[in-house]
Amino acid sequence: MAKKRVAIIGAGPSGLAQLRAFQSAQQKGQEIPEVVCFEKQDNWGGLWNYTWRTGVDQYGEPVHGSMYRYLWSNGPKEGLEFADYTFDEHFGREIASYPPRAVLFDYIEGRVKKANVRSWIRFSTVIRSVTYDAVSEQFTVTAEDLPNQRQYEEGFDYVIVASGHFSTPNVPEYPGFNNFNGRILHAHDFRDAVEFKDKDILILGTSYSAEDIGSQCWKYGAKSITVAHRTAPMGYHWPDNWQEVPKLERVDENTAYFIDGTQKQVDAIILCTGYVHSFPFMEQSLRLKTNNRLYPVNLYNGVVWQHNPNLFYLGMQDQWYTFNMFDAQAWYARDVILQRVALPTQAAMQADIDAWRSAEDALPDDYAAIEFQGRYTMELMAKTDYPAIDLEGCNQAFYAWKKHKKENIMTFRDNGYKSALTGKVAPAHHTPWEDAMDDSLESYLGDA
Ligand SMILES: Cc1cc2nc3c(=O)[nH]c(=O)nc-3n(C[C@H](O)[C@H](O)[C@H](O)COP(=O)(O)OP(=O)(O)OC[C@H]3O[C@@H](n4cnc5c(N)ncnc54)[C@H](O)[C@@H]3O)c2cc1C
Ligand SMILES: NC(=O)c1ccc[n+]([C@@H]2O[C@H](COP(=O)([O-])OP(=O)(O)OC[C@H]3O[C@@H](n4cnc5c(N)ncnc54)[C@H](OP(=O)(O)O)[C@@H]3O)[C@@H](O)[C@H]2O)c1
Repeated sequence: MAKKRVAIIGAGPSGLAQLRAFQSAQQKGQEIPEVVCFEKQDNWGGLWNYTWRTGVDQYGEPVHGSMYRYLWSNGPKEGLEFADYTFDEHFGREIASYPPRAVLFDYIEGRVKKANVRSWIRFSTVIRSVTYDAVSEQFTVTAEDLPNQRQYEEGFDYVIVASGHFSTPNVPEYPGFNNFNGRILHAHDFRDAVEFKDKDILILGTSYSAEDIGSQCWKYGAKSITVAHRTAPMGYHWPDNWQEVPKLERVDENTAYFIDGTQKQVDAIILCTGYVHSFPFMEQSLRLKTNNRLYPVNLYNGVVWQHNPNLFYLGMQDQWYTFNMFDAQAWYARDVILQRVALPTQAAMQADIDAWRSAEDALPDDYAAIEFQGRYTMELMAKTDYPAIDLEGCNQAFYAWKKHKKENIMTFRDNGYKSALTGKVAPAHHTPWEDAMDDSLESYLGDA
């Protein structure tokens, strides 16, 4: 009998988790299907693969990257550690808790280099469409080899969508934008805070991009930061040249006007207004349509497409947990494909999804949301042979992180947290975040 074929779309942390999941089964002697991973960029790592490019890439494709220079992890690394590959194993020493982008890229890459799965990936290859034929029970995947402009179709028994959801910007418009004299950009196109040195900037949004891009601009010398909130202010103790104001009403050539009647002259506007889930390559009946939430609709166990269990989506949740949650999902998808775990009836899947979504709707605060996603991840891990990890320990790291942010939003990254895997508390970084201007791997590891 011909080997079953699995297509994975994307070689970011989620897609790479899927490759590692299959490789780990193979390493244990299990026969695995043929696995082909399609990645539109020329390297792996997804968002962690930094690019200076914005807009379209060298092939005219939308640039995937939303990360910027000087980005450091916004949560403790102890919350995302791979259970099968600790930070200590990778770096051969203990490192501090909030690594910059290049350090996390190195860690992500280390595991898949060790697993030797690079040859399973077709780089610079974008997926154009995925359709399903119920009679043959086959997906037709249309791919384009971008450098060679060669489009082709292949048949697959399973498709795993791991294309991320923080790449297609949500871009609102406010009255007067057409007449504003400065730059208006979305966080997706933000690359270097130095551009905003000595400038008065206005940020719209109050979530992680707003907080972190504002902090970057402050660190690298912006004159002032004004953050307008649509719903509620972030409420941290901000530096003196940082203010939170109510919703933006309109702008003219140089000035922003807020709904409380106040105004501020600004040089640039950065829209930290989030992202939309976008899967234009999936046929309508297979396409996930959701907002950014902890339990998206139609995904059994947060992974299996309810109406066609040969289709999977990884990492589509709003994310407190990231890398180890993607692992839990990838191991589970693998075991559904390998028929190591059975799926219940449609009605039972629906009831399960409904129960999780109602529980999410009743969550009172962020602490409960962290506990919810930790519990979801732990329950999923328990269904497979993913190595045991005490996620309650990870929850504790997240709770402490939130407390440290409240204490001081500009120094929270100077704290260390306990690894649920090694039991060790991370050392303090050699330089406080506020003074560490070089975000390179060498500088962070103290080798520069
Ligand atoms: C600015 C920013 C900062 C973040 N910081 C943190 C952090 O500090 N800590 C943390 O844990 N998480 C952070 N995240 C969350 C981030 O979502 C995850 O860390 C992680 O990158 C998600 O992995 P993923 O593989 O699901 O998606 P992605 O990393 O987005 O990877 C998806 C991959 O799919 C590829 N792809 C997309 N469409 C196609 C197609 N049609 N054909 C072929 N390939 C395709 C892309 O090129 C990409 O390589 C951050 C997100 C953003 C936007
Ligand atoms: N250093 C880092 O690690 C780092 C940095 C940046 C981002 N990230 C990650 O990136 C992901 C995305 O974060 P995000 O902050 O970009 O998106 P997000 O969490 O989805 O937040 C979107 C924000 O935009 C606001 N908004 C949406 N539409 C708006 C409108 N029309 N007008 C005004 N405000 C509007 C929302 O306000 P309401 O509350 O009013 O809805 C919300 O504050 C997260 O996972 C985060 O962890 C990480």
